[in-house]
Amino acid sequence: MFKKDFPYFQNNEIAYLDNAATTHKPKEVIDSQSEYYEKYCANTHRSSFGHANKATQKYEESRKILKEFINAKLNEEIIFTKGVTESINFIASSFVKNFKTVIISSLEHHSNIVPWHMQGRKLGDGLAVVNCNKNLDFDFEHFEQLLKENPKAFVSITHISNAFGKIHDIKAIIELAHKYKAVVMIDGAQSLAHIKVDMQELDVDFFAISGHKTFAPTGVGAIYVKQKYLKNLEAYQTGGATINQVDFNSSTLLDSPYKFEAGTQNIAGIIGFGTALQYLTRVGYENIEIIEKDVFNYLDKELKKIPNIIFYNDIEDSIGSRSFNFENITPDDIGILVDKMGVSLRVGHHCAQPIMKKLGIKGTIRVSLSFYNDYNDINNLINALKKALSMLQ
Ligand code: ALA
Repeated sequence: MFKKDFPYFQNNEIAYLDNAATTHKPKEVIDSQSEYYEKYCANTHRSSFGHANKATQKYEESRKILKEFINAKLNEEIIFTKGVTESINFIASSFVKNFKTVIISSLEHHSNIVPWHMQGRKLGDGLAVVNCNKNLDFDFEHFEQLLKENPKAFVSITHISNAFGKIHDIKAIIELAHKYKAVVMIDGAQSLAHIKVDMQELDVDFFAISGHKTFAPTGVGAIYVKQKYLKNLEAYQTGGATINQVDFNSSTLLDSPYKFEAGTQNIAGIIGFGTALQYLTRVGYENIEIIEKDVFNYLDKELKKIPNIIFYNDIEDSIGSRSFNFENITPDDIGILVDKMGVSLRVGHHCAQPIMKKLGIKGTIRVSLSFYNDYNDINNLINALKKALSMLQ
């Protein structure tokens, strides 16, 4: 029903099931970028001629749209970045470097693991990992024990596992962490495409956001920073557009958000991000939830009819992605074969090697949905999987 809004689907007859990697872009998002380049291309926050003012106004409009979309309190709490990876690296190096311990979950993406290693942290020495059980459930008892053993820790946890679609109860995680005076960052890379997030209701301290997984252009994202941390948050990069005054001896920086947005930004991408969020608001999370649940349940039901399929978590606490294997079949072989039959999905470790190792597997076959996917996509997938399996078994 919504595919008509996305030019990609007019140009391709593909069952696109790799939305956890990136989503497609509605025509109005693509048009808003072209409009910037074709009609008012200029740099922002610098020159004062007409198009420069318009570009600045559209850029700042996107900040306001995002602020309202996630119910942040202030525009200054929204800092644009390249995406979630940059958001986490920024907070890691500017804010977390002096924390004794960082606590993460077992389901983290490499983007929420490697930055901690780069600070010289390792398991039991600056880094702690919350256990999960066989259904990939977050172990709250272990979490509380880690919070007790590591006072005033920094907690950095994914909202929705990109590899398995497992949802963490972040409200409960944040509440418990705050009880032990910990500061919390949520990796929200997979969130906004599927469910509403509300910064004030969650009372989260930092929340990393992806644009390109939320129907916006690639190379754009944001980090939400709760107001109380802005004053002491150091700049990650500096240069043009971040400064108050500079001489050869010293420089002073502006306040947030400008202090943190060094150099010319991805202006077209940020304008496109605002347009994507406006589009998403029109579609409405209430509709997204109904469509996705229906197609997701259909996917699960049809997959379960295929013999020898192995799942790693229940569908009940999952959103968007279903990850599985078939006995004695390498996921890569499935990926290559279904691609030839017009089905795009991701196979492998999904940038989450530690949890794959814990499960004793190299990787999985991952089907990740968006609200534009329909039963037809699932039927094509199931037929392709059956054909591929008959070739491999
Ligand atoms: N993080 C993206 C994925 O899960 C790239 O595929």
